[in-house]
Amino acid sequence: MQVHTSIAALRGARTGAGRAVFVPTMGNLHEGHIALMREARGHADAVMASIFVNRLQFGQGEDFDRYPRTFGDDCEKLAAAGVDHLFAPDETVMYPQPQHYHLVPDPAHDSVLEGAFRPGHFRGVATVVLKLFNIVQPDVALFGKKDYQQLMVLKNMVRELALPIEVLGCDTIRAADGLALSSRNGYLSAAERAEAPRLYRQISAIAEAVRQGGRDFADFEASALGELEQHGWKPDYLTVRRRADLKTPAREDDALVVLAAARLGTTRLIDNIEI
Ligand code: PAF
Repeated sequence: MQVHTSIAALRGARTGAGRAVFVPTMGNLHEGHIALMREARGHADAVMASIFVNRLQFGQGEDFDRYPRTFGDDCEKLAAAGVDHLFAPDETVMYPQPQHYHLVPDPAHDSVLEGAFRPGHFRGVATVVLKLFNIVQPDVALFGKKDYQQLMVLKNMVRELALPIEVLGCDTIRAADGLALSSRNGYLSAAERAEAPRLYRQISAIAEAVRQGGRDFADFEASALGELEQHGWKPDYLTVRRRADLKTPAREDDALVVLAAARLGTTRLIDNIEI
């Protein structure tokens, strides 16, 4: 695997690399990221990844400073997963001056759920991903479905800006007890780690009830939120939405998704299940 830290070096490697698939990350890689890299191999001649902890997408009081930086380990994992090129810029490369131009996502996607609890987050994500796309110029880009709303924002960005890139979502990878793999799981204490799969159990139970024909969404949500609170969680939201636009479903709607975000101690976990 070749590691490129400058835009010029990355562009040099990109020339002649053929069809390229790109997996952007913020590092601290786990099996979920590695599954994306393996999936990537089937889509193109060259697999390109990036590691960049993007300050723009962290709000005040969020974990930008303590976000785990594990570059050496990450490189070993990426090389073992067959990645051809890694773009690993530092902040002076990505933001040599303060970033004045930002991409503002559709408020219908940016102002709800994650967007409501993390104002400016998707603006930061869309801005850095557009910049990374301009640098890497991939044919295909892969993102995990754990960040469901992020995937929706980025698919819409690509469509509305007519970028010649196919954006694909890959299934969430879970631990044996159901917890969605996430770099932030490393913040959990042993007791919190044991408690953490409850989030998945709650959204799974709702998904199952809806699959069986249940349509009392508000009751399902209230009961799951209560269960989490009883076990020490501080939920931001747990809700059934339409997959297409994240709007509250009518009884007759199908193609739904249950999405949740909740804090366990100081760690904020998110998860979702498509129905
Ligand atoms: O999902 C992530 O890891 C980040 O939001 C991304 C897409 C790499 C942008 O910084």
